[in-house]
Amino acid sequence: MTRFEDKVVVITGGLGGIGLEACERFAAGGARVVAVDRRRDAGGRIAQGFRDRGLDLRCRVADVTSAVQVATLGQYVRSAYGRADILVNNAGMLSFSPIVGADANEWDRVQKVNCKSAFLMIRTFAPLMAGKGAIINISSSAGLKPTANTAAYSIAKAGLLMLTQIAAMELGPGIRVNAIAPGPLDTDMPHNYLKGHPHKDQIMEHMIERTIVKRLGRPGEIAEVVAFLASDAASYINGATITADGGFMS
Ligand SMILES: NC(=O)c1ccc[n+]([C@@H]2O[C@H](COP(=O)([O-])OP(=O)(O)OC[C@H]3O[C@@H](n4cnc5c(N)ncnc54)[C@H](O)[C@@H]3O)[C@@H](O)[C@H]2O)c1
Repeated sequence: MTRFEDKVVVITGGLGGIGLEACERFAAGGARVVAVDRRRDAGGRIAQGFRDRGLDLRCRVADVTSAVQVATLGQYVRSAYGRADILVNNAGMLSFSPIVGADANEWDRVQKVNCKSAFLMIRTFAPLMAGKGAIINISSSAGLKPTANTAAYSIAKAGLLMLTQIAAMELGPGIRVNAIAPGPLDTDMPHNYLKGHPHKDQIMEHMIERTIVKRLGRPGEIAEVVAFLASDAASYINGATITADGGFMS
């Protein structure tokens, strides 16, 4: 297992499926991890669970679409650790709707959570990296391939890929910035979003059918890619998008 001894790692959406697996992976590798999430319910219990196993995790409640809250988070990390080494922009929300009939406020919210939040986080945390570090943005296969009825989500995720490349140009060579495009995963996100939908099972089956591996991905399989991109083993990967989607096809 790659070691991240004493690295300071900040993960947004840190209490969700991929986020928590990434917290686990970095903390098990010796990192000091800050999980940022808007959820208030679970952070204390989860952090205690990590501490009981000798792992270093702190949970901070913040809405990463808020410039003020992200700035406060930056001040917290600066005063607690003096720096940041690795940033994982993972917070996201799903949204399906045809363009005609779509809600404009929902559109704005989807852009903010999936794309603007990464801009705010990079703007705040890159200066704490003192010219050396790694940033990983969690995009989606939706950001690479068009699918009807996903315009808000797909465009936000495509924007995140462009942000990745531009940030890599501006912050390199010392800070590497890369993205991951996961395919359909077995996390709360699709299950919660489709809860109560009359065709939930058929939609999930259709997603699985579109993969080569014929199953949903596990969040731990994405966390492994996050850890790889954050490690020195990925030293020649910069401004890239790594697809981890089980061979998801249109
Ligand atoms: N699950 C999938 O099928 C899938 C596929 C491709 C990409 N992704 C992307 O992976 C990332 C993680 O998804 P997941 O499946 O682990 O979802 P999840 O719903 O399990 O976790 C997302 C977390 O982000 C948090 N969050 C949402 N908005 C936030 C905000 N404004 N501020 C702070 N925290 C916020 C949520 O509270 C949640 O804990 C997302 O960016 C998602 O778009 C997921």
